[in-house]
Amino acid sequence: MSEFHDFDVLVIGSGAAGLTLGLKVAHKAKVAILSKNKLHAGSTSWAQGGIAAVLDNRDTTASHIEDTMIAGAGLCHHDTVTSVVEKGREAIDWLVEQGVVFTKDTEIKKDIFVDGDYHLTKEGGHSFRRVVHAKDATGRELQQSLELQARNHPNITLFENHMTVDLIRDTSLNPDESRCAGAYVFDTKLGRVDVFRAKCTVLATGGASRVYLYTSNPDGSTGDGIAMAWRFGCRVANMEFNQFHPTCLYHPETRTFLLTEALRGEGAYLRLPDGERFMSRFDKRGELAPRDIVARAIDHEIKRLGIDCVYLDISHKDKDFIKEHFPTIYQRCLDLGYDLTRQPIPVVPAAHYTCGGVMVNKAGQTDVKNLYAVGEVTHTGLHGANRMASNSLLECLIYANAAAKDIVNVMPQETLCDDIRPWDESRVMDSDEDVVVAHNWNELRHFMWDYVGIVRTTRRLERAARRVDMLAGEIREYYSSFRVTPDLLELRNLVVVADLIIRSALWRTESRGLHYMLDFPDTDPAMEGRDTILKPARRLSIK
Ligand code: FAD
Ligand code: SIN
Repeated sequence: MSEFHDFDVLVIGSGAAGLTLGLKVAHKAKVAILSKNKLHAGSTSWAQGGIAAVLDNRDTTASHIEDTMIAGAGLCHHDTVTSVVEKGREAIDWLVEQGVVFTKDTEIKKDIFVDGDYHLTKEGGHSFRRVVHAKDATGRELQQSLELQARNHPNITLFENHMTVDLIRDTSLNPDESRCAGAYVFDTKLGRVDVFRAKCTVLATGGASRVYLYTSNPDGSTGDGIAMAWRFGCRVANMEFNQFHPTCLYHPETRTFLLTEALRGEGAYLRLPDGERFMSRFDKRGELAPRDIVARAIDHEIKRLGIDCVYLDISHKDKDFIKEHFPTIYQRCLDLGYDLTRQPIPVVPAAHYTCGGVMVNKAGQTDVKNLYAVGEVTHTGLHGANRMASNSLLECLIYANAAAKDIVNVMPQETLCDDIRPWDESRVMDSDEDVVVAHNWNELRHFMWDYVGIVRTTRRLERAARRVDMLAGEIREYYSSFRVTPDLLELRNLVVVADLIIRSALWRTESRGLHYMLDFPDTDPAMEGRDTILKPARRLSIK
């Protein structure tokens, strides 16, 4: 039987976005923060390069804005970019107050940049060194500091292994306007679905890159928040723009991991197996061109030469500098038999970041009253057709702050809904066919990689659309017959996300940023500034 848990604010997700929001409302509210696995299991802990912010007085916000707009290939919203970039320093100062320790100049020996304070690194698309970082494990430092603050806060309750199934609708106050009243949450340890009631609910569930076979992301990046919001009646935008990071380790027997763009920022080259540096053939910015260009160039060379991978080479740099600056990556490569200081490392692109997502306004509000979304789950207009490196954590912090302010204002007028039904399991049984879920997971991720990847065609997208339709039917049937499991819930969400990506990609009959169509290779000036906005057909009946 379901238990009921009551809070003022329910935050679904415990990465940079969720923890920041929780900490910023907790002085005024009783807050629950949920994670479907461990608190640190999201992408935030895995972030390497750092956070983009204008901290050097030779740099300007105008330059950060311009670089972001250029990388975004005509789809960034200028007002969003401006408001995010202008709050960069404030966000970094707040992190430092929470105990985050960023690498200082003085710690980095033999470096070329000294400004007396933070060491700033460089990444693709940035005209200046403006990425503040904690060596090569910025996300881990951030996650640990925010987690510690949240654990010690008397108004915050943390729930690990609590996976949200769906949002709950309240139409009791006003049948014409529904509002979000909380969520059904699967306690994966107890095997029970509980009701979490809240005055305000926040999706901070991260991205959806696990819809692809190869990804830099942790296992939980299954687009749950996007799928839940879609089922609940929210619009989503720009789902065709999935970012592929150019340099993930290629190793046939090990799970891939990221080799930060900061390596290229600090001078690493991309080479073919014969040693040739090839990026200048594709873009005058060479290895530091924006990610879409570098990933596509690598994909092109891999296909042209029939090779498995290309190589990332920083071995010409000072050994101590490499070890000091990139200790985590150096050690992980060494464990696999590659010495970063001596040899080039095999790399391939992999799905990395979901640029589109749930549409929100400047306060993080979605289309549904009392439902907010922050972080990678959202579409804010910051990233356009291609996110610039290290702008994501910045967006998490700034939108979490904005949403927190709004919630603190709105919440006192709100009440808990007293008309919520417990989760009903009377018509389902335990599954005796888990193989169906496992098989469909594999099939989905394979065809998304093959047909909806770095290079697309209309025919491939249509083929993928037919397969998604079929899988969606099977999953619907399965979901209505069997008790929920984490795998089933994630697959159910991934199928929704795949469908949204494919439909958006088919709509965009041009190539722009991360979306490259062989049969529409040019950018269509008429589509500049036009987001791909998908609207659920009928609000109350979408499953
Ligand atoms: P996440 O940190 O992904 O957290 C999602 C949370 O939601 C998790 O707690 C998860 O358990 C929870 N969750 C999901 N679904 C459910 C559900 N159904 N029920 C309950 N809980 C749920 N960006 C940068 O700006 N700079 C970088 O250097 C950088 N490096 C990166 C390196 C790697 C390897 C990766 C993968 C990403 C990197 N990014 C970087 C991107 C950035 O890390 C992410 O975009 C950002 O951390 C997303 O934060 P978030 O809070 O939105 O989501
Ligand atoms: C990286 O360190 O290369 C990842 C940075 C990012 O995704 O913003």
